Amino acid sequence: MENRAQWGTRAGFILAAVGSAIGLGNIWRFPAVAYENGGGAFFIPYLFALLTAGIPLLVMEFTIGHKYRGSAPLSFFKMNRKTEWLGWWAVLVSFVISTYYAVIIAWAISYSIFAFNLSWGDDTEGFLFSEYLQLSVDPGQTGSLVPGVLIPLLIVWLVTLGVLFKGVKKGIEVANKIFIPTLVVLFLIIVIRAITLPGAAEGLQTFFAPDFSAIMDSSVWVAAYGQIFFSLSIAFAIMITYSSYLPKKSDLTNNAFIAGFGNSSFELLAGIGVFGALGFMASQSNVPVGEVVSGGVGLAFVVFPQIINEFPALNGLFGFLFFASLVLAGLSSLISISETYVAGLSEKFGLSRKAAVGLGGGLAALISLLFATQGGLFFLDAADYFINQFGVAFVGLVEVVVIAWFLRKLGDFQNHANGISDIRLGGWWKICLGGITPIVLGFMMFDLFKTNLLKQFETETGNYEGYTDGFILFGGWFVAAFALVVGFFMTLKRWDAKAVDEVKKEVS
Ligand code: ALA
Repeated sequence: MENRAQWGTRAGFILAAVGSAIGLGNIWRFPAVAYENGGGAFFIPYLFALLTAGIPLLVMEFTIGHKYRGSAPLSFFKMNRKTEWLGWWAVLVSFVISTYYAVIIAWAISYSIFAFNLSWGDDTEGFLFSEYLQLSVDPGQTGSLVPGVLIPLLIVWLVTLGVLFKGVKKGIEVANKIFIPTLVVLFLIIVIRAITLPGAAEGLQTFFAPDFSAIMDSSVWVAAYGQIFFSLSIAFAIMITYSSYLPKKSDLTNNAFIAGFGNSSFELLAGIGVFGALGFMASQSNVPVGEVVSGGVGLAFVVFPQIINEFPALNGLFGFLFFASLVLAGLSSLISISETYVAGLSEKFGLSRKAAVGLGGGLAALISLLFATQGGLFFLDAADYFINQFGVAFVGLVEVVVIAWFLRKLGDFQNHANGISDIRLGGWWKICLGGITPIVLGFMMFDLFKTNLLKQFETETGNYEGYTDGFILFGGWFVAAFALVVGFFMTLKRWDAKAVDEVKKEVS
């Protein structure tokens, strides 16, 4: 008998993987990213990234977790002792993401309550920044904690860590079996309402109108890859951890296709719903749709409340449904993001699950308080910008290069997946991971560093939302370098004998 936790059912695993993938990235990031990067034409790099990198990497990460049956660091350690740091690096990126991701879910909880009375009033921007977030300090300063953010943030961590405490089958699986079907129903109601509003057709036209010149621009490709990586939870250590709880006989490739296409379908649905609603709002105020589009924080917490204000009927209810969907999508992803360090810590130090949740989750919760201060939004925006520009796709690039080029493991993994899956991986899979992905991603990253970074170092003006470059770059690179150093130090500590013994037994 093995002691490793396991999913109860195949559907449980798929729902958990889809729950991890569908998150804030799908609802608040995708629509604006697609619009800003060529609209309909964005689907070309997006689909290219999904088919040549997203799904092949998902298959690879499922295979790694299933074959080595360990958290990301343990799996990389078993693959080759010298690559354990790569697992820690991905875990630490997840750790950083979890600290600010939790805060956005906290805002969504507050807003789902505000929705009932439309308490945000007519000036939704002023409400968000001044009244709710109490943003009154300069970037880089914290000010004091904001109680309106702190209280829902504590709820977010209580739910997330509570679910993780209960374990894989009784906690994560059960939560996703409730959250994901509920989310899909809520979201379908919202989307159907959105596209039947007056003006929705113009919104959709704006969303899908292709600007083909955009696809010649390398930053559009970076955006497409970044979106696929973030949205599919790839290179976060998540999918490796989740698939390490699969039973021996599991169809890896099919599961990856289901999770990949399920996530992209939801993303497309979110784009349609959001742009339908934006079209409605533009037609109400007689302006072109392009003028009401915004991304991230602005879209969900400034523009959406305005749209809800204008709804013909049941405003409060639709407002609640929208923000509740954001909460459900966010929580199921945050659970998966946090499970990466819970699993890593517990295996490395031989801690019980509860102790690892307390230690890892407690530390993440503590750090997340930074984003619940009066200056929190600046820190959050900078962290999110940096992680998305450089973080996740970069870890993904290093991961494929190490596995495909240095360790030459793709053949092994292909045999492993083919041995237990219905869909057989052919040569295309190796070509995607060993050739196309590292070359395209490598070129893009090079271009991104060259154009963005050097330019930013040269100019002192700051070109991201008016912050100084130093703030983003120092903060971002400092955290990135710190993550690598911590990852390196982790490799100096020996694995807890139990974790490695179990692994040895399974391999023999
Ligand atoms: N995959 C998660 C999201 O899209 C992290 O938000």
